[in-house]
Amino acid sequence: MSGTAVYFPSDAKIPNEVRLVAADGQYNLITPLPGSILQSLEDQFVIGTRRLLSIAAAFKSQMKEGLANRPVSLKMLPSFIGKPTGLEEGAFLAVDFGGTNVRIMLVVLLGQGQYQITKKKSFPLKDPLGIYDFTAPDAAGTQMFDYIAEQIKDFTTCRQNYLLGHTFSFPSHHAGINEACLLYWTKEIRTQNVEGEDINRLLLEALQRNNVENVKPVAILNDTVATMLATSYSDKDCDLGSICGTGHNTCYLEKHTFGHESMIINIESGNFNQLPFLIYDELLDKMSVRPGEQRLEKMVGGYYLGEIVRLVVLDLVEKGFLLVGNNTGAQIHRAYSIKAEHVSAMLADQNPHLNDIDLWCRDYLGIDGSSPADRAVMKKISELVVNRAAGLVSATYIGILNHVDEQLASNHTVAVDGSVYEKIPGFSSTVSKILSEMTGENGQLIKLKTAQDASGIGAAVAAAMVQQTE
Ligand code: BGC
Repeated sequence: MSGTAVYFPSDAKIPNEVRLVAADGQYNLITPLPGSILQSLEDQFVIGTRRLLSIAAAFKSQMKEGLANRPVSLKMLPSFIGKPTGLEEGAFLAVDFGGTNVRIMLVVLLGQGQYQITKKKSFPLKDPLGIYDFTAPDAAGTQMFDYIAEQIKDFTTCRQNYLLGHTFSFPSHHAGINEACLLYWTKEIRTQNVEGEDINRLLLEALQRNNVENVKPVAILNDTVATMLATSYSDKDCDLGSICGTGHNTCYLEKHTFGHESMIINIESGNFNQLPFLIYDELLDKMSVRPGEQRLEKMVGGYYLGEIVRLVVLDLVEKGFLLVGNNTGAQIHRAYSIKAEHVSAMLADQNPHLNDIDLWCRDYLGIDGSSPADRAVMKKISELVVNRAAGLVSATYIGILNHVDEQLASNHTVAVDGSVYEKIPGFSSTVSKILSEMTGENGQLIKLKTAQDASGIGAAVAAAMVQQTE
């Protein structure tokens, strides 16, 4: 076992005498908690409105710096596309490469903001039975894109020609609407020979290798951009698009930049780093594939929420505050064994004795004798982690809205998609509540809209916009 020093920002609330012990990829932490457990956790996780407003201000100022190409955590990547008119029409093929699952859709745009999805399928890049994993460090980009091309071949009919819009949900540097190089993988994907490459060229080459001559990629876009395009196809007030899912990010319409009239900017806000990190965030970051990167995403993304909960639970177990006298089994010591869906299940348990959590503790974690008090603490931890995430996401929205409309004098629709926003109980309503608290009366002009299937619809809208200009 070896001790490791941890860096804490000066303003973070960190308990005294933190010791971090890492061994064989497993990690533990030992922190003496002062006062009552719950009070101490609340002190750490609850971020008040004033603090959120100062985070929003820091976010806004980093946006400005990023737009001026200064090295800050917000990448401010141009997307080479503006807003649609809502009149775009035609049938388009959409590929939604959002993480370990890829979806293919046939989308018919009917104009007047109307559309239909006439066919869709989804497939994993990582086989649940372990037969293949195109996201692993020993997989090559060509193998991954060949697999995607094969799926496209099965999905389409060879008698028809298709224009393809590709929603690729990773930080990419665009040189045009159809040319984007992956800066680096996120969401813990590690496939080789993709970083630094022009993604639609890799896709096109794979289509050619697989004799798919009738499919032509014409646009590549981030999922936040797709979300914004899909919603603004029917809502002219939409000027922000956001994903609160496995990963997190937001884009917005920048009116004056890059010599273009207006263009959507992919902020890559998941990389924002001026935040009050706790020991749990530091630990999670240290053990992640890319320490130091995606710090906001590691506090709010669905990939990470369960792991934060696990680290807190484990901390309390280690200190003898939780699950006392229980054999906690191996599961809870395994990194990422608690997932966002478990966090959702804990939050959804309304039973007075929290029986569902008890069942989950037994069946999944292998913990037999949890007391109702233990389960209440676990539920409380989930609540604190999720509410903190909702607060931080809201702070970034306010930072962006203040950038585009300092007085908050116009209507703004924020289009949001993603499993955290849609599925975690209380997340979306907390975002909405915190936005109101942060904005007062002017907040009435801000509307949050859920945007389902937006990655596919937005990709089709982008392809249609390209077709119009050709
Ligand atoms: C990626 C973003 C993406 C977000 C949501 C992040 O990990 O860096 O590009 O928009 O996830 O999918």
